[in-house]
Amino acid sequence: MNTNDILVDIPTKQKTYPIIFEDSFPDLNTQLNSQINSRKTLIITDENVKNKTNFDFQKNSHLLILPPGEQHKRWSTINTILNYAFKNNFDRYSQFVAVGGGVVGDMVGFAASVFMRGIPFIQIPTTLLAMVDASVGGKTGIDCAYGKNLIGTFHQPEFIFCCREFLNSLPEMEIKNGIAEMIKHGILGSEDHFQDLENIATSTPNIESIFPLIRNSILIKKKIVEADEKEANIRMYLNLGHTFGHAVELLSNFEIPHGQAVAIGTMMATDFAVNKGICDLNQAKEIKSIFEHFGFDLSCNFSEKEIFNAMQHDKKRKDETIQLILPKRIGEVIIWEMEI
Ligand code: GLY
Repeated sequence: MNTNDILVDIPTKQKTYPIIFEDSFPDLNTQLNSQINSRKTLIITDENVKNKTNFDFQKNSHLLILPPGEQHKRWSTINTILNYAFKNNFDRYSQFVAVGGGVVGDMVGFAASVFMRGIPFIQIPTTLLAMVDASVGGKTGIDCAYGKNLIGTFHQPEFIFCCREFLNSLPEMEIKNGIAEMIKHGILGSEDHFQDLENIATSTPNIESIFPLIRNSILIKKKIVEADEKEANIRMYLNLGHTFGHAVELLSNFEIPHGQAVAIGTMMATDFAVNKGICDLNQAKEIKSIFEHFGFDLSCNFSEKEIFNAMQHDKKRKDETIQLILPKRIGEVIIWEMEI
């Protein structure tokens, strides 16, 4: 490990795993080769990653290419993965490698957690969002007719490799999806991280300035998942902006990108906190301003009533209450039980 790399320690699983940063695909390939060693390995990616990046998938491993998109995050794709593994004589000493965004990572992690009662897997996130959020912390899963991520497991990876070269081919919207999560991490856990992001905020995302801040964003999430792997308490903080944000995504039939929905959702949570006297107006202005500087459109055409109705379906709901995460100040949030 290099000094920049991060070690995640999950005491409930007595497990530690490194997050390793690489600049280029050749460096990533060297690392991956040494992890594959002689272990039978199935690398799983999607058509977008395969076609749009120059990553040289290991020729001596099995490669399975999935159709891209959230609409494929379902049982039939898990069957495709598991059947491929059975047909090709994978066993409990084999491993899977996920090369993709959150959808691929969640599905491969889930398939790895149930194949022969659980085999190891490696995460190679290819989007900014997957680097700072989805690949870290062991949440795996698929969607079903009743909602997103309702079927899943906690299964921690063996390694996470964050390679900067993947970010070069990402569309601006994908970069913004990740930036929204990084801002979220600043608001919920570190004023310094928020200020670092403020210092680089321009409406045209710049990978050169963003990449060094990925590490700090991951450190905030790492601390939380180490303390509360199963989301019994403080892992809920990571839902900041997501309860309102999911309602906005749902009402827009998923036309509004995730990052923008999180930005709108975070502002709704912040305004709610100001109204309740929890958050100071100046802090709320600062939060609004960072999203605006990064070019997020914060306008929302849905009424309060529509948003609250859509929130009734939130999977984080507990009996008749929803746990809203509200900023107290930049760097600190609280859990607010709201009756519905
Ligand atoms: N993405 C939120 C979590 O990992 O808990």
